[in-house]
Amino acid sequence: MSYVKYSPRVSFVIKNALLLSFALLFTNCGEDTTPPTVYEKSTDCSNIESLFQVAEFPIGTALNYDAFLTDVAYRDLVETHFNSITAENIMKPSNIHPQESEFNWGASDSLVQFCAKHAKYVHGHTLVWHNQLPDWILNYKGTKKDWEDMLQKHIQTIVLRYKGKVRGWDVVNEAFEEDGTLRKTIWLENIGESYIEKAFIYAHNADPSALLFYNDFNLESNLTKREKVIQFLNTAKNRGATIHGIGLQMHIYHVYPSELMLKETFDEISSNNYKIHISEMDVSVNPLNKDIEPDSVLLADQAKQYERVIRLYSQLPYEKKYGCTLWGVTDKYSWIRSFFYREDYPLLFDDYYKQKPAFFSMRKALCLY
Ligand code: XIL
Repeated sequence: MSYVKYSPRVSFVIKNALLLSFALLFTNCGEDTTPPTVYEKSTDCSNIESLFQVAEFPIGTALNYDAFLTDVAYRDLVETHFNSITAENIMKPSNIHPQESEFNWGASDSLVQFCAKHAKYVHGHTLVWHNQLPDWILNYKGTKKDWEDMLQKHIQTIVLRYKGKVRGWDVVNEAFEEDGTLRKTIWLENIGESYIEKAFIYAHNADPSALLFYNDFNLESNLTKREKVIQFLNTAKNRGATIHGIGLQMHIYHVYPSELMLKETFDEISSNNYKIHISEMDVSVNPLNKDIEPDSVLLADQAKQYERVIRLYSQLPYEKKYGCTLWGVTDKYSWIRSFFYREDYPLLFDDYYKQKPAFFSMRKALCLY
């Protein structure tokens, strides 16, 4: 992808970057990394290619750090279309906290610096999870108090390092089973169910200005799980934990969930007074792992699903919309292929980084609603 091809857009971006550099010069020399709102939702979208520049809420992507370092075309798409970045892997416990007394800041520091330089929000993912844990946590031995102290140190060291630089954190990820009971993780086993509210309290103490999220999957399709999660979080809030929002991962399909299910999910979470982050969206076109071609019918259904989600999400009150993050940029690097060994095409850009019908329908929905 050459700059020549995109010269009008690039010059727009350069102009914004220059404006931002001046703005930073006159604030506190780049120390305050909260990205200023350099974009405004435009009423005329016809000349604006960038997704985030036509949106009234942040548009994010999960960043594949290797691709970010080595693939210029990929990086160009990230810079152009997204103004919020979630690290796909590098901020997870196994990467950022590999030994009890060793934190691995290199990659996440440079990501945070990149975001500050390019006026992008950083969304932190994830402080407490049962996956991608380092061996030292998996093998940790101690009393309940030792576990709580360890969890507190883990959370506070990371949150403090990025205090004022990370807009929001996925504090706890995927703590519920599909039947609505708490997942049997090492955290539950060693601390008990209070680990969830404690995690939120530790994170809030470390950075009172960060927005704190509980993040999970299938909440839009599994009513039992959704209600149990909301009930649990409401109780934790009543007991003093600060929980600002719920992250809906939304790894969904081209024809499922339905419009009604999506609407009910958004309305229910919003009316319980949580912000909503569509935190990891992708739209699979091959959930049953068949031998398929991404033909025009499939891609049109996928485009409709992206449109549906954005249209319904846009109808929420402004303050409930934390943003919409996609779990990747191009189908080429989608986690679905490597994680599930499945041929799939879930994102907005194809394997050759060309915009798919889903890109245009999402962009149009961002403009219209
Ligand atoms: C995935 C990454 O995309 C993969 O690269 C990694 O191998 C496994 O994790 N829910 C989450 C994300 O909260 O952190 C997961 O990310 C996808 C499912």
